[in-house]
Amino acid sequence: MEVLMRIIVFFMLKVSSAAEEVKSELRGIEGGSITFLDPVLEYGFISLERKNVAMVKEKKCDILEEIYEDRLFWNNRTGLFTLRGLQRSDSGVYGFDSKKGAVFTSSHRLTVYEPVAAPAVNAVNTVNVSAESCTLLCLVKKAGETTLLWYKDEDILNQSSSALSLPLTLHRQDLTSSCRCVAANPAEEKTLHVDVTALCGGLMDTDRHGSDTKIRSYMIIVPIVLAAVVLLGALFIRGRFFLKNKKTTTETQAEYYLPSLDR
Ligand SMILES: *[C@@H]1O[C@H](CO)[C@@H](O)[C@H](O)[C@H]1NC(C)=O
Ligand SMILES: *[C@@H]1O[C@H](CO)[C@@H](O)[C@H](O)[C@H]1NC(C)=O
Ligand SMILES: *[C@@H]1O[C@H](CO)[C@@H](O)[C@H](O)[C@H]1NC(C)=O
Repeated sequence: MEVLMRIIVFFMLKVSSAAEEVKSELRGIEGGSITFLDPVLEYGFISLERKNVAMVKEKKCDILEEIYEDRLFWNNRTGLFTLRGLQRSDSGVYGFDSKKGAVFTSSHRLTVYEPVAAPAVNAVNTVNVSAESCTLLCLVKKAGETTLLWYKDEDILNQSSSALSLPLTLHRQDLTSSCRCVAANPAEEKTLHVDVTALCGGLMDTDRHGSDTKIRSYMIIVPIVLAAVVLLGALFIRGRFFLKNKKTTTETQAEYYLPSLDR
């Protein structure tokens, strides 16, 4: 009978520890901040890995661990804790234990990630314009837990985890679309929109240099044609004005001379 009781107690302990399991997963970024949405208003504790970090009592919050001075804030109206200046070492299970008023316990696992490096598409070394396809290389300075993805609208065209670069080869028929490279970790993502036609524009011709020359010649021809049109227009108007003017002069002269002829 005693053995049975022990087994029951053991199972109850198991169940109760399971009930205390982490309520949610939270993600933060180094240097950022996080507000825990568990209000401790009257009397209670916040703990990290079961070690109390701060205590709320009589409308005041006492920080119990020195490393949280100036970083852990408690709002006396909402009862919420905010941790600022997040560090990787702040990762862990945070417990909230409110013993008065709204009585509850809860816990969350916080994981603090490095900030994601902004992606870049380096046009000088990484854009390869050959006759049939164009390869763009998306780069980040720091890989870490970063995943690189190439997107076209909502479609993933290529992806790779913990890599410093990710190529995307586009064929002639895809060159009008726009793409974006996304660098992401579980906490944040950064996006770079790529104007494919601008970077791979040379493919419309046989080579990039050819298209540059063509653009340059357009830049010369267009102003010349415009100037010619303006000049012709000016001549035409001037010509008509001149003719009309001449005509009026003749008429005036005629009028002037006619009376005198009458005399
Ligand atoms: C709450 O905190 C503010 C400053 O953060 C303080 O001015 C105010 O007196 C506090 N209220 C109570 C009831 O302690
Ligand atoms: C570009 O592609 C061509 C063949 O498609 C290759 O021979 C050349 O080495 C590539 N250039 C660069 C810079 O990757
Ligand atoms: C996707 O990336 C891999 C390298 O990670 C590369 O070999 C492959 O060509 C890329 N696919 C496309 C469609 O660009």
